[in-house]
Amino acid sequence: MENQGRNGKRLVLVPGPFQGHLTPMLQLATVLKSKGFSITIAHTQFNSPDSSAHPDFTFLCIPDGLSEEEVRNPDLIGIVLRLNVNCESSFRECLNQGTNHMESGDKICCIIYDAIVYFSEAVARDLKIPSIALHTSNAATTIVRPILLQLKAQGHIPVPDSMLQVPVPLHQPLRFKDLPLSNFGSLDYFLEGIVLMYNIGSSSAIIFNTIHCLEEPPLAQLHQRYQVPIFPIGPLHKLAPTSDVSLLQEDTGCITWLDKQTHNSVIYVSLGSIAHLNQDQLSEMAWGLANSKEPFLWVIRPGSILGSEWIDSMDEGFKECVKDRGCIVKWAPQKKVLAHDAVGGFWSHCGWNSTLESICEGVPMICQPCFGDQKVNARYLTHEWKVGLELEGEIERGTVERAVRTLMKEKEGEEMRQRVLDLKHKVEVSIGDGGYSSHYLSELVELLTSL
Ligand code: UDX
Repeated sequence: MENQGRNGKRLVLVPGPFQGHLTPMLQLATVLKSKGFSITIAHTQFNSPDSSAHPDFTFLCIPDGLSEEEVRNPDLIGIVLRLNVNCESSFRECLNQGTNHMESGDKICCIIYDAIVYFSEAVARDLKIPSIALHTSNAATTIVRPILLQLKAQGHIPVPDSMLQVPVPLHQPLRFKDLPLSNFGSLDYFLEGIVLMYNIGSSSAIIFNTIHCLEEPPLAQLHQRYQVPIFPIGPLHKLAPTSDVSLLQEDTGCITWLDKQTHNSVIYVSLGSIAHLNQDQLSEMAWGLANSKEPFLWVIRPGSILGSEWIDSMDEGFKECVKDRGCIVKWAPQKKVLAHDAVGGFWSHCGWNSTLESICEGVPMICQPCFGDQKVNARYLTHEWKVGLELEGEIERGTVERAVRTLMKEKEGEEMRQRVLDLKHKVEVSIGDGGYSSHYLSELVELLTSL
């Protein structure tokens, strides 16, 4: 039986059902549990987390009504919109049943929900329970997303080729090509989703998995836009280092492989949990890595290569060429990989979690954003914090080879390494006593205690 929490106060946390969303919400749950709250994780059936890995939490499964076919559909925006329609009444019912099973004296004092599962806010409002939104992407994306509607009305979206390099007025360092548009489904659905996602309704506050020292200007703009407290309490993975929630099986053999490599010699390559590659892109990445002659650890997610199960279609010549200095796995313990002494660079799609994890380990990056907030993150990495190299245009082996060499061997890469080590230090200060993230976390706990 779970211990009675902070004065019997229970928080219900509702994660978004994707790896990059489940992870920060479960980390937040771990942090709040350590502050004495009782925790219920209310999750969709689709991509449900492994409850046995979190014996301290109570889990409630929300029937989401998604069919097998819908779950397999790559249109993620469609899935999100449908979930929000399907889950509102089932969540309400679930919460009522869950409440019946709670210990007497236990009170739900707040529903903390991922902004993409905004049905939670509607339920909280109906049941007169306070709510708080969690944004799992950065502040800069949250600032710029709502202007997409305006830009669409002005005819700037879809972005014409002639505008790609043009700076977005009032949103430097972003260019039109960096706007956080989606690759999935229809543009109209995506914009409809944005309106719903960024309307916090009656929520009392917004939590961000970001850090004051990385995003001071966009955070200041957020304070102006929303009339509620903003809590940038990241990086959550450093506040809750033990809270892992991998939907895929991690291959720990790659750590044994890294143990045999020399200091800062390996480039780690991963495009996260959603992005896909076609056969040509796979081949150009592979030969760029091979020709760079640098050791690499490459995560290729099963199903992420269009038209093949895994690396079955990969050129045998490439496999032979890199057999002594390449390691390819299906899924890695990424945080351990980035913290490993042998890893000197990260070629990434720049998902926000990967971006934070890389900065926190002082690893400079090659930035290959695929869609959405990744483009904003990549622009900040390359042009604001200057800790990443931009890989522009179609993936091509010559460009890849040069980028890998520059990052791993040249002065430009070394300068980025120094800058990212400085950022790492600033982040450590932020989560230490008296730092910004610690301060905002205390304020958040105070607010939750007062509800
Ligand atoms: C998605 C979006 O794509 C991203 O842009 C948004 O910021 C969050 O949601 P995803 O593409 O999965 O996320 O990227 P990211 O945010 O980087 O999250 C991936 C997570 O999976 C990271 O925490 C990373 O450590 C983990 N991971 C990735 C592994 O544990 N092993 C791997 O092999 C690869």
